[in-house]
Amino acid sequence: MLNKEIISKLNNVQTPFYFYDVILLQKTLSKINEESNKYGFHIHYALKANANPKILQINKNAGLGADCVSGNEVKAAIENGFDNQKIVFAGVGKSDAEIIYALQNNIFCFNCESIQEIEVINELAQKNNCTAPIALRINPNVNANTHHYITTGLEENKFGINIWELDAITEKLKTFSNIKLIGLHFHIGSQISDLQPFKSLCLKVNELQKWFEQRKIYIEHINVGGGLGINYHEPDKEAIPDFEAYFKLFHDFLEIRPHQQVHFELGRAIVAQCGTLFSKVLYIKKGIKTNFAILDAGMTELIRPALYQAFHKIENVSSDKPLQPYDVVGPICESSDCFGKAVLLPQTQRGDLIAIRSAGAYGEVMASAYNLRDRVNTVYSDEI
Ligand code: LLP
Repeated sequence: MLNKEIISKLNNVQTPFYFYDVILLQKTLSKINEESNKYGFHIHYALKANANPKILQINKNAGLGADCVSGNEVKAAIENGFDNQKIVFAGVGKSDAEIIYALQNNIFCFNCESIQEIEVINELAQKNNCTAPIALRINPNVNANTHHYITTGLEENKFGINIWELDAITEKLKTFSNIKLIGLHFHIGSQISDLQPFKSLCLKVNELQKWFEQRKIYIEHINVGGGLGINYHEPDKEAIPDFEAYFKLFHDFLEIRPHQQVHFELGRAIVAQCGTLFSKVLYIKKGIKTNFAILDAGMTELIRPALYQAFHKIENVSSDKPLQPYDVVGPICESSDCFGKAVLLPQTQRGDLIAIRSAGAYGEVMASAYNLRDRVNTVYSDEI
């Protein structure tokens, strides 16, 4: 929660900056652990959502594993103390160097997305005298009903192995001496707020389990990915996502065999609500229908609105004057550098502090230096 005391301290910090509410993050993690422990589920934090070292430390201290999509993410997980045996490594385009690094560091599992990738991992494992534990990332062809840029579980996406390829793949797997199939992996998309697609995923996983068992292939680990959405419109009302309903759904609908472990890879649901991008108003400029509030933060600090038309709640924490509509824009030389159109804000002036909420996931980590911008600052609630 952004209370008056915090805001008054933040007023003197050089903008733009990301503010992280460490207490909220810790509460979110406690709730995840409480709800997932009921069923013995294993949770991996998806580093892609936010790889800020302090955030990584907090997530690691809560006992989470790590879900990585590049060699550098695997390295960041190891350097920040995540247990190697709790690291999963996914991605459609793992390079040889990334695979070798992960093999040498004895990670828990490679989530594999194509037959050629498995061939290469087998060859590299052979050269390194080891066996690579793998999970097949299967494309379940489940529609996540989310933004088309962040849906991943449909056959038309580049991700995963399609169900019709499984026969050929399982035959081929028998010929690989340095590969051990330990799991099946799925991920249907991100920012999924209606739980129905997760139920469809469970039913698909149940069918596929039977398919493998008929072929006498017994799977130890089922990884259902991440994707749980958050409430961007009312971040204070729902600061912690409904993990209780989410994990219960998987418990109710997944037909888990007694020996099996279930894994999740959550990113956004863990870190989104604890982050706020703070920025100051540089100028107010007259527009035709609405005025522009020009901020000192732009798409270089938070690209989600420009890239996905994503909504983030915008608040003027310096003013309590009557509401007026503003197009809230950044300083970058791109028309898409806009955080929101006709946003109702209390009458706003140069120097006001603006909070762009729910920015802890896919915010700081997607920042760029376009226009040769400075690297964005970070401030933590327990350090001010
Ligand atoms: N596992 C896999 C295989 C993934 O591809 C992703 C996200 C996750 C887990 C974590 O998903 P989450 O729990 O955070 O939804 N930049 C976009 C989101 C891209 C998500 C990519 N994959 C955004 O800002 O909305």
